[in-house]
Amino acid sequence: MLIKQADELHPSEITPENVYLNRRTFIRIASAAGIGLASSAVFPHLLDSQDRWPQGKKGPYDVSEEVNKFKDITTYNNFYEFGVDKGDPAENSGSFHPKPWTVHIEGEIKKPATYNLDDILKLSKIEDRIYRHRCVEGWSMVIPWRGFPLADLIKRVEPTSKAKYVTFETIYRPEEMPGQKRSVLEWPYVEGLRMDEARHPLTLLAVGLYGKDLLNQNGAPLRLVVPWKYGFKSIKSIVRIKFVEKEPQTTWNLLAPNEYGFYSNVNPDVDHPRWSQKTERRIGDFLKRKTLMFNGYGDLVSGMYTGMDLKKNF
Ligand code: MTE
Repeated sequence: MLIKQADELHPSEITPENVYLNRRTFIRIASAAGIGLASSAVFPHLLDSQDRWPQGKKGPYDVSEEVNKFKDITTYNNFYEFGVDKGDPAENSGSFHPKPWTVHIEGEIKKPATYNLDDILKLSKIEDRIYRHRCVEGWSMVIPWRGFPLADLIKRVEPTSKAKYVTFETIYRPEEMPGQKRSVLEWPYVEGLRMDEARHPLTLLAVGLYGKDLLNQNGAPLRLVVPWKYGFKSIKSIVRIKFVEKEPQTTWNLLAPNEYGFYSNVNPDVDHPRWSQKTERRIGDFLKRKTLMFNGYGDLVSGMYTGMDLKKNF
C-alpha cells in the first residue's frame, strides 16, 4: 500500500456540551480575531456544523481520545474501487448508488436469503461507537461510527456447526466504481474473519459515522469495522456475507501473502516487511505515537489468540 502524509488534516475534540468541536479552528479564528482563549460555548456559530453531532452517554467500548474531524474521515480514504490516492474515493464516488441495497447471506447457516438492508437494520439496535482506526500504512484516526454488532446478525441467520469463518464481499460495479476498471487488485474485494472474531462484541457492521449515514467514500451503505485489526480488514460496501468451514482468501493476502496475513491484528512487534509497525501518525498530529498491541483493545480481544504464535499468524 502507498504511504502518504495528510498535512492538511486536523483533529477535533469532544466537548462537555456533547458536541464535537474543532478546537484548533476555533483557537485559530479566536486568536486571529484577538479574542484569545474563550469558551466554545460563547461562539458556537464559529464551529463547523459537520463536526457536531448529538453524542449520547459514553459506552463501554468508546475510547476517550480526541475524535478526528468529519473532513479528515471523509476525505482521507482507502477505497481502491474509486482510485488509489487518498483523495480519490471522495472525488470519484459521486456516481455510486448505495440505495436500494441487498445483502446475500449464505453458506453454513439455517436461514440463507437475500436481505434488504432496511430489513437487516430493523433487527438490530443501532449504536454510536468511538473506535481507534489504524491503517497498515502507519496512520490512524479516531472515528465515531454508527452501526450494530455483527454478532446480532449472525445470531439471526443461525450458523450450523460447520461455520468456522465468515467471508465478506464488496459490490462489483465497474460502471460506478472507476477503480474496478483497472486491475490494481483482484475484484471484488474480499475479506474474512474467524467466527469468534466475527461474533466479538467490538465487531461492527457500520452504516454511518458522526451520526450520519455513511458517505460513499467510507463504504456506504454497509461496511465492517474491526478495530483491533489493520484497516484493510474493514471491508466496504458489502453485498455478500458467507459462512464457510475453511479459512477464506482475502484480497491483500492474495496480492502479497508475505506482507498481509489472514489475521492482520495490529501488532507493534511484527513489522511489515517494508516498514516498522511500532509507531503511527494520528491524522492531524505532528508527532508520531506508539502503536498499541491489538490497537489498544488487548484486554478485550487477546484471549482469542492465546497459544497462537502471532509472528507466524500475522
Ligand atoms: N474495502 C474495499 N472494498 N476496498 C478498499 O480498497 N480499503 C481498506 C478498507 N476497506 C478498502 C476497503 C483499507 S486499506 C482501509 S485502511 C480502510 O478501508 C479505510 O477505511 P476509511 O477510508 O473509512 O478510513
